[in-house]
Amino acid sequence: MRIFSGIQPTGRKHLGNYIGAIRGYLEGQERGDPAIYCIVDLHATSVSYDPTTLPGYVLDTAAMLMAAGLDPDRCILFRQSDLHEHSELCWLLSSVAPYGDLQRMTQFKDKAEREQELVRTSLFLYPVLQAADILLYKADEVPVGDDQRQHLELAREIARRFNSTYAEVFVEPEAVIPGTGARIMDLQNPDAKMSTTGSTEAGLVYIDDEPEAIVKKVKRAQTDSGTEIVRAPDKQGITNLIDIYAVARGVSSEEVEREFAGQGYGAFKEAVGEATAQLLAPVRERYRELRADEAAIEGALQQGADRAREIAVPSMAEVHAVMGLGARR
Ligand code: TYM
Repeated sequence: MRIFSGIQPTGRKHLGNYIGAIRGYLEGQERGDPAIYCIVDLHATSVSYDPTTLPGYVLDTAAMLMAAGLDPDRCILFRQSDLHEHSELCWLLSSVAPYGDLQRMTQFKDKAEREQELVRTSLFLYPVLQAADILLYKADEVPVGDDQRQHLELAREIARRFNSTYAEVFVEPEAVIPGTGARIMDLQNPDAKMSTTGSTEAGLVYIDDEPEAIVKKVKRAQTDSGTEIVRAPDKQGITNLIDIYAVARGVSSEEVEREFAGQGYGAFKEAVGEATAQLLAPVRERYRELRADEAAIEGALQQGADRAREIAVPSMAEVHAVMGLGARR
């Protein structure tokens, strides 16, 4: 079973990333043959960003993933820009990527609307680069949160079109989306997903937040004016907290509803805050240690890039051959 996923190098990752995706990476590490995880710095250049801080963000993200439990000897952990095959395949896949489908991508529309100066062409091509990441490794499974569903559908469409236009080269990847916690919502605005760019500080729990800060943020989370601790469409805030608690304690959402039946929101929020702080505390502590040794992180990423190349180079040779392009030596 080949597993691949990508994560953006933002300075700090949040609870949504942890619950929606990073847990899936850990599970994939046990099954993957291999499991491949990529820090997608090329994607980060599709919106305005600061070139002087990006390299440090890549190291932050790598250290965070290792702190969460990814072991660079048991999976392939690497930086996207260390392999030119990703950008090259993005261009080649553009030849089978329907322009109309790209125009319908909701993340493109959202991000384009937020862009202050210029909507970069790379933002439009973002999902094609994402398809290239996945298809290059012929991944069977892609662990992601719910917000990546549309991008994964497109990657499948691109694989099908490439295979029918040229030759059967690519595998159609399956999105693996968790049953609980696939979409963690902003604590202050439970109609919107928790995100580094869209959320306020109070609405976001960072993986490396201090335990007291986590408890405080959860205590102040927006909830409805009712009293019942149950999941319901008109109770987004409480539903979100139930999901977070369920994942943090490793139980089902129904069990959480039963455990807190008859209790008030105050006591429930206290319990969710504590459970979240406990879930993240070991990651935060290991992160501090690991982040301090930049040479070790860089070494792990280099080793990951060498191993990624062993898969990517033959894939590109196949693509060149079936597309009638110059033979790879
Ligand atoms: P990124 O860096 O925004 O997010 C990383 C992962 O975290 C998940 N996620 C969430 N899950 C639950 N609740 C949330 N509030 C939440 N916010 C984020 C995302 O679904 C994702 O799985 N486009 C990708 C990066 C990428 C990629 C790839 C992913 C590039 N190439 C190839 C898979 C395969 C992204 O922006 O992730």
